[in-house]
Amino acid sequence: MKIKVTKNGPYIIMGNVPLYKEDIIIDNNGFPIKFGNKEKIDTEETYALCRCGKSKNKPFCDGTHEKIAFEGKEIANTHIYEESVEIFETDNLKLIDAPTLCDHSRFCTRAGGIRHLMEEGDEKSEKIAIDEAKSCPSGRLTMIKKSNDESSESDFDKEIVLLYDTGKETKGPIWVKGGINLESSTGEEYENRNRMTLCRCGKSHNKPFCDGSHWADEEFQEKFRKKWNLSQLSYNRLD
Ligand code: FES
Repeated sequence: MKIKVTKNGPYIIMGNVPLYKEDIIIDNNGFPIKFGNKEKIDTEETYALCRCGKSKNKPFCDGTHEKIAFEGKEIANTHIYEESVEIFETDNLKLIDAPTLCDHSRFCTRAGGIRHLMEEGDEKSEKIAIDEAKSCPSGRLTMIKKSNDESSESDFDKEIVLLYDTGKETKGPIWVKGGINLESSTGEEYENRNRMTLCRCGKSHNKPFCDGSHWADEEFQEKFRKKWNLSQLSYNRLD
């Protein structure tokens, strides 16, 4: 199984990789809590997923990228995770955080936010913090329990999931699960990671990875904040 990024064109998915769509489910306050409503999408053994965001046959490429002269230049280097990792620790937990890979699914914002929960240090807060790290689709966040070195990383099947954010009412990234190889348009391999989120709107400044640009529009953000009364939540691109 392999994903090949093409120059100014789609992702070519090879090796019968199962394709699904799934929702990010939110709680009553607008914070993501889980995934749900997963549905299989039929594909051929090899298929092309739109990367420019303009196909009329989404999620598949229909060649529109050529008509619009899509600029799909890959910005991220092939060791972006390794190079951006930061460690945040409390007595019981260690958070491995690669901020430049954030896809703004915002699972880590519930109940005061993941770092606040870690600092609270009680059993209930730590359990939510671990769950938030585990839910992060981009793989930006991984939590380690210091007492036994247990990682929050899930044992995923190899599959691709097109996320829909029910809180923002917008399409999210392409979620790649289980460590599928990702090759750049110039033939280099990206780090193999258990969780990755790829851009499918064509707007990311961290291509091929999602950087949350699908909800960067000011008007869109304002509508979201008003709906959920979340004045503090906004899109901040990490350059
Ligand atoms: S990448 Fe081909 S139509 Fe979008």
